[in-house]
Amino acid sequence: MGGKVVTVAQQKGGAGKTTLAAHLAAYWSQSGRNVAAVDIDPQGSFTHWTELRFQARPNHGLGFGFARLSGWRLPHELDRLAREHDVVVVDSAPHAQADSRTAIRYSHLVLVPVQPSPMDLWATLPTLELARMEKRRAMLVINRMPPRSLLAAEMAQKLAEIDVKVANIVLGNRTGYASSLGHGLGVTEAEPGTTAALELSRLADEVALYAGLD
Ligand SMILES: Nc1ncnc2c1ncn2[C@@H]1O[C@H](COP(=O)(O)OP(=O)(O)O)[C@@H](O)[C@H]1O
Ligand SMILES: [Mg+2]
Repeated sequence: MGGKVVTVAQQKGGAGKTTLAAHLAAYWSQSGRNVAAVDIDPQGSFTHWTELRFQARPNHGLGFGFARLSGWRLPHELDRLAREHDVVVVDSAPHAQADSRTAIRYSHLVLVPVQPSPMDLWATLPTLELARMEKRRAMLVINRMPPRSLLAAEMAQKLAEIDVKVANIVLGNRTGYASSLGHGLGVTEAEPGTTAALELSRLADEVALYAGLD
């Protein structure tokens, strides 16, 4: 049986797609899964992180397979990578690019990071609709939740209106997520035991379960 393709998608830039994709890839490979990561964003932020990672781990390599892909090769390559790995994490571009649409079509799960504001929630609707049209499972991940957010109640109501699966684990607004990536690492590698690392590993476990990873 083939592995699962998990695409992180959301039209809004800065929502946390690359952050989520990188930490998931690092954690899943750290916890013994055979992982591939694919960067389909022309901006190449994920690719840049892999370059830092390569330098940061001279004796270990990336710890997962990696490809930067676009265009007509994408479906075939996603299919091939899924056959050869337990999980393929795809970091996609903002805006409704053709490649993002293709990646969604070939995914088992579409992860949609969203910051806790009503406007950001509206911005997820086109991505959720795309997943729905392609009959793919989608899961919202609330990202950068400030402590004691006054928005929480309002968000909960808006989320209920949207009627989409929402991850139980919410990611806080934590410097560890950015600083670890700046060193080419995931937060669970750079600072194990911290709140950020614990939160991320719990979310990754929840996502793995929902995506049907072994
Ligand atoms: N949970 C978080 N806590 C703190 N900073 C975050 C968090 N998630 C994302 N960021 C920061 O927000 C910015 C945008 O995140 P990024 O992953 O690049 O978004 P996208 O890929 O959707 O454009 C980055 O500077 C990143 O470090
Ligand atoms: Mg990005």
